[in-house]
Amino acid sequence: MQLIDGKVVSAQIKAEIAEEVRLIKAAGGKTPHLAAVLVGHDGGSETYVASKVRTCEEVGFKSSLIRYEEDVTEAELLACIERLNKDEDVDGFIVQLPLPKHISEQKVIEAIDYRKDVDGFHPINVGRMSIGLPCFVSATPAGILELLKRYEIETKGKHCVVLGRSNIVGKPMAMLMMQKAYPGDCTVTVCHSRSQNLKEMCLSADIIIAAIGVPEFLKGDMVKEGVVVIDVGTTRLPSSVTKSGFKLTGDVKFDEVSPKCSYITPVPGGVGPMTIISLMRNTLFAGKRSIYN
Ligand code: GUN
Repeated sequence: MQLIDGKVVSAQIKAEIAEEVRLIKAAGGKTPHLAAVLVGHDGGSETYVASKVRTCEEVGFKSSLIRYEEDVTEAELLACIERLNKDEDVDGFIVQLPLPKHISEQKVIEAIDYRKDVDGFHPINVGRMSIGLPCFVSATPAGILELLKRYEIETKGKHCVVLGRSNIVGKPMAMLMMQKAYPGDCTVTVCHSRSQNLKEMCLSADIIIAAIGVPEFLKGDMVKEGVVVIDVGTTRLPSSVTKSGFKLTGDVKFDEVSPKCSYITPVPGGVGPMTIISLMRNTLFAGKRSIYN
């Protein structure tokens, strides 16, 4: 069993991005600029956005954090997006999700100029991704592809089971793994909370991408020997042991599943560290106008 170390890979990519930014600046080019919009004070969102801003600094990007209180109106938020769309200094921006219930997330996502949509959530980016055109691929799926690539994991002709059908992970992951490409060329099965033969599907899988959002859902008796397991779960379970008061728990029962795996990502330290780096890479692409002009 080999652990897929997202911390090591993300550190490598971070250094690669920082070096490219250094060269761009040395040649008199524009510093890539990421803006993040944060609504309210959700603990998880605060942590993620702070981490995104910090990583921007570390790779040499400019970053802007725009904050609104929980009671911001949808119209105010849409006006902010319009300003960011027009701001020529801003290469890419994100609106951290989830948003308060009185705001339509879909409306917000569709208001973002797809050329600045470094989260890859706009229907134009999702559509282009699904037919294999250049686009911003959302951070978690892009991070997973990068891990498979850097560990040179064979995917062609393999049976890949994706657990979960979210718009952010499950659906794009399934599209990407079936793409005529590497990583890709898989036979893909998507299982979700209503699937009836989920265990049988998992037992026949060569690659399992667990993004179902149920802590320790995938058990040892659900996987075959030699399987590759990618754990996307990030449930915060209360803990009396850790300083933060919670323990990040994946969708995989690691002690049971890992002895059967050829490769597995741990939680934390697997997919997690890759997601922010994928956002940084998309921002670099946006800064260089390498996907859209
Ligand atoms: N909330 C959880 N993950 C994400 C993400 O990748 N982007 C944004 N904008 N919000 C999120």
